[in-house]
Amino acid sequence: MSTNEGKFSGKVALVTGASRGIGAEIAQKLAAGGADFIGVHYANNRDAALKVVDDIKALGSKAVALEAELTKGISGVKKLWAAFEDAVRLELGTVHLDILVNNAGISPVFPFEETSIETVEDTINVNFKAPYFITQAASPFLRDGGRIINISTGFTRVAAPMNTIYSASKGAIETLTLALAPHFASKGITVNAVAPGVTATDMNKDMRATPEGRAEAAAFSAFSRVGTTEDVADIVVFVASEEARWITGQVIDASGGSRL
Ligand SMILES: NC(=O)c1ccc[n+]([C@@H]2O[C@H](COP(=O)([O-])OP(=O)(O)OC[C@H]3O[C@@H](n4cnc5c(N)ncnc54)[C@H](OP(=O)(O)O)[C@@H]3O)[C@@H](O)[C@H]2O)c1
Repeated sequence: MSTNEGKFSGKVALVTGASRGIGAEIAQKLAAGGADFIGVHYANNRDAALKVVDDIKALGSKAVALEAELTKGISGVKKLWAAFEDAVRLELGTVHLDILVNNAGISPVFPFEETSIETVEDTINVNFKAPYFITQAASPFLRDGGRIINISTGFTRVAAPMNTIYSASKGAIETLTLALAPHFASKGITVNAVAPGVTATDMNKDMRATPEGRAEAAAFSAFSRVGTTEDVADIVVFVASEEARWITGQVIDASGGSRL
C-alpha cells in the first residue's frame, strides 16, 4: 500500500472494475492517499467488492459498492451512474466527481476466425462503449482539475493475434483519450490512458498456471517478471495526482518495458 497520505484529500473518485485486480488496487491507493469518497464498481463479485469497500473504510475514506453488468450496453452504464449519483448525494449532499478511472475490462482469447459477433459486441460494450458513456455521464459533474484515466493495454503496441477484438477495443479507447483531452482541458481536467503489460490478476491466471506460461508472461517485460497490481496502480495514482497536471491526451506505458 502506498503512503501518499493526504494527496487526494477531499477528492471523489469512481473506479470501474474495482472488485478485483488492478481496479481494487487503484481504489485502495486512492483511499490511502486520503480520497473522501470512492465508488467501487463491480459486475458479479459482490463479496469481493464489499471487501474492497471495507478496506477503503478502514483507511478512513467513504466508499460504496456499485453493481452494473456492462456487456449489455447503455443500460448498465445508466444503472451505474444513477447508483453513483445517489450514493454521492447521500454521503456528501451534492454530486461531483474528481477522478474517473475507466478500468473494467474483459479480455477474450480466441483465434481471429473463431471470434464470434457476441464476443465482439460484449468486448466493445465493456471496454469501449461503457467508458465512452460513463465519461459522458460524468462530464457535467467533473470538477476543475479533475482526472479521467482509461486503462488500455500494451497490446495496442504489440501484435496480439489471439486478442484481436480486445486489442482493437483498447485502441479505440486510446484514440478517444486523445480526442477528449482538448475538450476537457478548459477545466484543467486531464484525460490519459495507462497501458499495463502482463499483470498478475485473474485476467491471465490460466496463462500463469504452468511454469512455461509463467516464463512466457515474464518474458514480455524488460525486467523479466510479471507486473503486480501495485506496479500499475502506482502509475495510475500518479496520473491521478496534482503532480501530473501537465500530462494530457497521452498513453502512459505501465508494462515494465514490454517488448522494447
Ligand atoms: N491483467 C493484465 O495483464 C492486464 C494487462 C493489460 C491491461 N489490463 C487492463 O486492466 C484492466 C483491469 O484488468 P484486471 O486484470 O485487473 O482484470 P480482472 O482482475 O479480471 O478484474 C476485472 C474487473 O472488471 C469487472 N468486470 C469484468 N467483466 C465485467 C462486465 N462484463 N461488466 C462490468 N464489469 C466487469 C470485474 O468485476 P467482477 O469482479 O464483479 O467480475 C472486475 O472488477 C482491464 O481494463 C484490462 O483490460 C490488464
